[in-house]
Amino acid sequence: MADLPNAVSVLVVDDEEPIRSALKRFLVQQHFDVQAAASGDEALAALRRHKIALMLCDIRMPGTSGVDLVPQAIEIEPDLAVLMLSAVNDATSAALCMQRGAMDYLTKPIELADLGRAIHRALKQRESLLQQRHLNQWLKEEVTTSRAELERQRQQLERISIATLEALVNALEAKDPYLRGHSARVADLSATLAAELGLADEQVDQVRVAGRLHDIGKIGTRETVMNKQGPLTPEEYEHVKQHVVIGSQILAPLAHLGAVIDMVRSHHERWDGSGYPDGLRGADIPQGGRILAAAEVYDALSTSRPYQEKLTPEATLERMRDLAGSVIDPKVFEALATVTGRRRSLVFLDEGSPEPSL
Ligand SMILES: [Fe+2]
Repeated sequence: MADLPNAVSVLVVDDEEPIRSALKRFLVQQHFDVQAAASGDEALAALRRHKIALMLCDIRMPGTSGVDLVPQAIEIEPDLAVLMLSAVNDATSAALCMQRGAMDYLTKPIELADLGRAIHRALKQRESLLQQRHLNQWLKEEVTTSRAELERQRQQLERISIATLEALVNALEAKDPYLRGHSARVADLSATLAAELGLADEQVDQVRVAGRLHDIGKIGTRETVMNKQGPLTPEEYEHVKQHVVIGSQILAPLAHLGAVIDMVRSHHERWDGSGYPDGLRGADIPQGGRILAAAEVYDALSTSRPYQEKLTPEATLERMRDLAGSVIDPKVFEALATVTGRRRSLVFLDEGSPEPSL
């Protein structure tokens, strides 16, 4: 029969032609788009060809019975509503069909009015199952979207908190012409060293953040000591040493910084155990702390300070070679020699390029 646009498709499955024809006639009158099949195999073929909403199915048929047809039909069309047509004495088979996914059954002989109501009920039930499934799908997508949005906001907050701290470091360094840009340079060099040492991208990022924030604890250092020209007294030196502890305390509430906090605390530890604040030795010092330590020494020697002229990169490296194995992790020194050599060959520190900021 001709396809009716928007009409609900019903498949009639019955091996007896007179019943099939009567059912078809009735359903066409009810404005359904009707397909008919004389056997289970024909029904399965029709289900593969057409989008069927409801199957009206005889239980007793030669070949594939209605009982066996139901699960196969639902496998092809999971949204299918199934109504069984059962003989008077075959309630057991009808119940089995219901267990296998049929929605209802009618006992022959069938009153057409009953059939109409049963079809209406089955289609309504199918509709609400479809709506339920769509709702579940929508909810799942909503939850996924909300989670992604929350995650995005969390990351944004983390970035903002780090940016705020960096601004604090910049303000601190701005007061001292010799320190200006120090943390940014230490951060860049440390991240390059971390990558050279084969650290994962996430750890390289942590080392970079630690480089930017490593001296944030100097907020707690007295101005008179910060600005003092000339050597510090032992008491003043002890006071300056506190900056690593104060720094890690400032950062402690920011749980997302994770390993960054230990890197900040340990950036003045020395390979031979003579550093501070914990006197850690060798591999006991967090690797990020060892990297920061080397980058900081490199930056201190290669930029002008009140007490020294800046050294060339070559001279800086030579000076630091003596510190490898005592102050500095030898492996980090090797990485430093590699990356500074590479930088020189890239004309990065050539005469013509901008001087490092003071
Ligand atoms: Fe420091």
